[in-house]
Amino acid sequence: MKVITTYSLKGGSGKTTLAVLIAQYLLHKGHSVALLDSDTNQKSLLDWANNNQAVNVPCYLIQDELTEKDLNDFPNVDFVIIDGTPRTNAYVKSVLSLADYIVIPVQPTQIAVTSLLQDNHLSLLAEIEENNPNTQINVVINGATQHNTKEIKDVKEILTETGFNVLATLGQRKAFVIDYDKPFMQCSNSKALNELGYLVDKMLEK
Ligand SMILES: Nc1ncnc2c1ncn2[C@@H]1O[C@H](COP(=O)(O)OP(=O)(O)OP(=O)(O)O)[C@@H](O)[C@H]1O
Ligand SMILES: [Mg+2]
Repeated sequence: MKVITTYSLKGGSGKTTLAVLIAQYLLHKGHSVALLDSDTNQKSLLDWANNNQAVNVPCYLIQDELTEKDLNDFPNVDFVIIDGTPRTNAYVKSVLSLADYIVIPVQPTQIAVTSLLQDNHLSLLAEIEENNPNTQINVVINGATQHNTKEIKDVKEILTETGFNVLATLGQRKAFVIDYDKPFMQCSNSKALNELGYLVDKMLEK
């Protein structure tokens, strides 16, 4: 079983969206998935799962610090996907420490990049990396209106120079907007599905 956790200190960067989209893609590929919501203030992922019981994916709120033992509650799932919370406390560290893959969504704007490069963000990620050398930390540029513009290239360069693995770019797409009353995006949108598939497949190939 692999654990994929979305994380960013920046609100509204796409953590919950990515958690739902990654779950959707993995289910679409025939994997089994369980969801954990660590954002105890907003509980967005839990709300989405409760509103969409037809999807039939178990979803629980993580109330306390997460331990390896808690993950043993999911012996039969291929992936546990955790929606991160924008804080840096011991609770957040316990959640991030159990991730095989951390996915950090960053909007391609100066303010979002600056936020990721803040000391509290970088020092927390450095600590996680040092204590968990097998955890892969990936950045996803999220909400690009166009791919391969100079702006996107500049953002990738800054993040790569800082030592981040920039995995992929997700466009600003209507198909990626989670409808809290409806399960998942429309799979008929093949461009969106291809973009998402590229991201997840590339992440899991390592
Ligand atoms: N690639 C995208 N295309 C279009 N809309 C997007 C995309 N990613 C995120 N959004 C929209 O941006 C908003 C914020 O996304 P989301 O709720 O996933 O962020 P978050 O990081 O979980 O926020 P919070 O910190 O409040 O938990 C939502 O309205 C979502 O639908
Ligand atoms: Mg959220």
